[in-house]
Amino acid sequence: LKKVPLFSELDGNELKAIASLANSLDIPKKNIVFQEFDLGDSMYVILNGEVKVSTYSADGREVVLALLGVGSFFGELSLLDAEPRSATVTTMIDSKLAHIRRRDLVPLLLEQPAITLKILSETASRLRRTSRVLERISSMDVPHRLYAYLVDHCQRFSQQDNDGLYSTLLPTHQLLADQLSTSRETISRAISQLKKDGILVQGDARGKMRVDVDALEDRLDDF
Ligand code: CMP
Repeated sequence: LKKVPLFSELDGNELKAIASLANSLDIPKKNIVFQEFDLGDSMYVILNGEVKVSTYSADGREVVLALLGVGSFFGELSLLDAEPRSATVTTMIDSKLAHIRRRDLVPLLLEQPAITLKILSETASRLRRTSRVLERISSMDVPHRLYAYLVDHCQRFSQQDNDGLYSTLLPTHQLLADQLSTSRETISRAISQLKKDGILVQGDARGKMRVDVDALEDRLDDF
């Protein structure tokens, strides 16, 4: 728990107290942690692994709202407002989660405003990100949604190399499609075009791509 940003303000004793309240769950990959509309009053912190937060459109298509990694948390909405779960959460890879119930966490939130503020601040960032994505889906064609996604992704998860390109691991085409509200085929076509244009370049052997973020930003400016 010490490595989780949410709890970085806590001293040794406080960490021990919260560790004794949380139970640790090992969940294999591709398992549902909970489903949208389930009742729940607990929150989860990702100690190891990665999860996908998704909902389903009226025509049954999966809409991926977020991918969350180590140190991140989820389930705070139902914990705070006692409404059913707003989305389904599924593990992407084998994951270890800390599970904390409302009755145990609320006293800590009242005592430790720093933790409460971090939850609020992260919730605000997620709302901003979701609003931005929604706005892009309603105003941009798929290639431009993809450009904007790639720029965000590179800036959040990787660094610029000496030659100005960003090395990064990209989600699968299906996962990109489910985040950008389109089909896998349309994403594959847009990615092939970016490769032809020299904006996406195959990276080293570990499946990394190299991305010309400046060129993508130019295309977004011209949109
Ligand atoms: P809760 O509603 O309890 O259960 C589903 C969880 O998914 C929710 O809490 C949040 O932790 C997370 N979640 C819901 N919507 C989003 C979103 N738009 N972006 C990121 N995470 C979300």
